[in-house]
Amino acid sequence: MALRNIITAPDPRLKQVSTPVEKVDDELRALMDDMLETMYAAPGIGLAAIQVGVPKQVIVMDLSGEDDAPAPRYFVNPEILSTSEDHAIYEEGCLSVPDFYEDVERPAQCRVRFLDYQGEIREMDCDGLLATCLQHEMDHLKGVLFIDHLSRVKREMMLKKLLKQKKSQQEKVTA
Ligand code: NI
Repeated sequence: MALRNIITAPDPRLKQVSTPVEKVDDELRALMDDMLETMYAAPGIGLAAIQVGVPKQVIVMDLSGEDDAPAPRYFVNPEILSTSEDHAIYEEGCLSVPDFYEDVERPAQCRVRFLDYQGEIREMDCDGLLATCLQHEMDHLKGVLFIDHLSRVKREMMLKKLLKQKKSQQEKVTA
């Protein structure tokens, strides 16, 4: 397993649309293992492959609490089958949008079909944090960030600050 670099906004790669995985094989499992390790190290609760520069429909997640045993989840080629009419609001953050948190409204429940770590087809009903996190990660597969759900003014303000942070980090690295 190896840590991968997490891409942060603004970066055109995060706007890429990810393509379906043809086969869940050892190579893909190695990617998922790397992604999980990278997510734990960050630390974060969810990560899409495009965030480490791989435009494939792959998501890893772990919503277990700090004192719980790890409970990794893997979603390959996820597809939302249905969403509830009622909505839920969560304060969201993203490893690709460091240090920013904002309320985002999404359907409170959803049903998803996906391939698991072994490549088996599964269907699952999601609610609460799982439903929100899954929809957030699935947005990444479409090139959408949680800040794209906010007003244009707010988003542009955040992107400006992120760009500034990036530039000052680069200056530090080259100094
Ligand atoms: Ni994210």
